[in-house]
Amino acid sequence: MTSATKPLNPKRFEDFIRHMTALVESLGDDEPALLDAAEPLLGDLIRSDDWLPERFARPSEQSYRQYLLYCDPMQRFSVLSFVWQPGQMTPVHDHTVWGLVGVMRGEERCEEYVATGGGRLPRKSGEHALPCGAIDRVSPRIGDVHRVSNAGRGTAISIHVYGADIGTTTRHVFDESTGAVKDFVSGYNNGEQAPLLVATKAR
Ligand code: FE2
Repeated sequence: MTSATKPLNPKRFEDFIRHMTALVESLGDDEPALLDAAEPLLGDLIRSDDWLPERFARPSEQSYRQYLLYCDPMQRFSVLSFVWQPGQMTPVHDHTVWGLVGVMRGEERCEEYVATGGGRLPRKSGEHALPCGAIDRVSPRIGDVHRVSNAGRGTAISIHVYGADIGTTTRHVFDESTGAVKDFVSGYNNGEQAPLLVATKAR
């Protein structure tokens, strides 16, 4: 990437946050309308990666990385970069809130699961490719359980938007081999690194 060779364009991300903030203020109680309006904003954001500094695009040998880029001061939404090396994948998991996933570099695959309720293992219902530029939606209303993986030979980066401070939200992972359902809180991989944008600058 890019930060060493290309000038960064922070305004692209600042504009996205400004528009997302306006959307959650006007449509925060109407999830379908909010997702319809937010999807083209995310599409514009991921059309170019010139706004994402290298420190938020850094993969790890251990696992995929999830970096917090921004959290709304009232936790109405958060924005993350997910960075995957070839072969890396999430566990089967849910979100408990609405989410949008836009692939900005490389390609990913989504395996879909249908929740069966009662703490039981979800059933796999299909899978689809997420090429660069594709955007997926999740939520308890429209389908909330999936596994995402890097489907390509290079590093993949996707930008995720969720209707909560997702790294602090208690949700669930599902172990396909044992059928176990576990609570989990994903956290973030920022370490000492602050988010790309802090709330006071966006308002
Ligand atoms: Fe997910």
